[in-house]
Amino acid sequence: MDPGDYDAWYNSARGSWILAREWRLLRRLLRLGAGHRVLDVGAGTGRFTALFDGAGFIPVGAEPDRSMRAFAARRYPYLGWVGADARALPFRKGSFDGVLAVTSLCFVPEEERSLAEMLRVSRAPVVVGLLNRHSLLHRRKAGRGGYRHARWHSPGEARALAHRACPGCRVRVRTAIWLPGGGLLARLVEGLLSNRLPGGGFLALAIEPS
Ligand SMILES: C[S@@+](CC[C@H](N)C(=O)[O-])C[C@H]1O[C@@H](n2cnc3c(N)ncnc32)[C@H](O)[C@@H]1O
Repeated sequence: MDPGDYDAWYNSARGSWILAREWRLLRRLLRLGAGHRVLDVGAGTGRFTALFDGAGFIPVGAEPDRSMRAFAARRYPYLGWVGADARALPFRKGSFDGVLAVTSLCFVPEEERSLAEMLRVSRAPVVVGLLNRHSLLHRRKAGRGGYRHARWHSPGEARALAHRACPGCRVRVRTAIWLPGGGLLARLVEGLLSNRLPGGGFLALAIEPS
């Protein structure tokens, strides 16, 4: 995927709306604040990494794809960028206050191993954004464009994955983006529904040792 094309989508009306809704949910799930050190796994062009920086966190972006990473580092040279694969993160146990991965684990073949790695390097919550197979987004986008190679999870599968990677952990499952078009009705619906309801295309998990 061309980083410029990928990143440009976030500038569209729909892309910027989705970015804002996902960011809102991820922040709430992470339950950390300014000054905390966070790792963004599969950071892509760094959109979420930069949002963390803007909110006062100390983020590091981990991204294996050279062109994506170069794009992110060019745009946000003041942030830390590491060439790293989610399956073997080059950090010591507990290096970060929190770790997140936004729609990146759905592209990694060994998702359970990757999640275990994220839990290893995090002192507290691990937050993961996935794609919900039980959603309108799946019906509209699965197998197409940037979603072509993505794995889609049901909320139950996502929860089971989290428990396999971290037996005994507390897992919260939330969703957002019920109407993926991003028009007026979608925005209205999004404002009215609770993230506890299933069916949103964006499936977010928070995993915390209990
Ligand atoms: C859809 S993009 C998401 C990028 C960014 N998190 C965002 O939400 O804009 C998926 C990202 O996962 C990355 N990725 C793919 N395989 C990976 C792996 N094994 N470890 C870490 N990241 C990976 C890709 O390079 C890509 O940047």
